[in-house]
Amino acid sequence: MPIIAIVSQKGGSGKTTLAVHLGTRAAQAGHESCVIDTDPQATAAAWGDWRGDFLPVVVTSPPARLGRTIESARKNGVDFIVIDTPPHADAAAREAIKQADIVLIPTKPRAFDLHALEPIADLVEFANKPAFVVLNGVPAGATVLTKDARRAAKNMGLDICAVELGDRAAFHRSSAKGETAAEIDPDGKAAKEIEKLWKWLTKKLG
Ligand SMILES: Nc1ncnc2c1ncn2[C@@H]1O[C@H](COP(=O)(O)OP(=O)(O)OP(=O)(O)O)[C@@H](O)[C@H]1O
Ligand SMILES: [Mg+2]
Repeated sequence: MPIIAIVSQKGGSGKTTLAVHLGTRAAQAGHESCVIDTDPQATAAAWGDWRGDFLPVVVTSPPARLGRTIESARKNGVDFIVIDTPPHADAAAREAIKQADIVLIPTKPRAFDLHALEPIADLVEFANKPAFVVLNGVPAGATVLTKDARRAAKNMGLDICAVELGDRAAFHRSSAKGETAAEIDPDGKAAKEIEKLWKWLTKKLG
């Protein structure tokens, strides 16, 4: 069962957005997918409440209970898990990374945000898990910015996801309704980016 951890110490980098979009895309691919929200703010869980009875299932779990939550999800037929994590929380990130097959680290391509990648770089190196920075909220035409961001991540020893997510209204408009970008605008750029990211992810998962 693939387990994807979404971590970054920086608030507002796109962890929850990524978690609910990938969890939903996995469900559309036929998975019994589940988003486990380990953030006390419970943003992904709120999204799940707004969404109602549609997949993915969203459950909350304190980081210390994550292993047991995964076990009980598995027993209930879940076959794809995305873990959303809180910002500014080393222990929660460490626990999610420990459970994961692959770690995704969303970040805006800005100096202060990139600087906040360092503690995560240490955590994933220590855990020896495949981890990829996902550039998120990339402004249109920001090629120099993304090039610099890619270099900064590489200098920290982090791999970088080939797919970037642009700064797109469909991401926040859809999330606010318990939906995804593809559900409100199937032919939009945000939907296409998630599609590309999904393809990239399934390849990485083998
Ligand atoms: N690519 C994007 N384009 C436009 N808006 C985005 C994008 N990604 C995220 N957002 C918006 O930015 C805000 C923060 O995103 P999100 O909640 O996913 O970040 P987070 O890392 O989970 O934050 P926190 O650390 O507080 O949990 C949300 O309003 C979300 O809709
Ligand atoms: Mg969040």
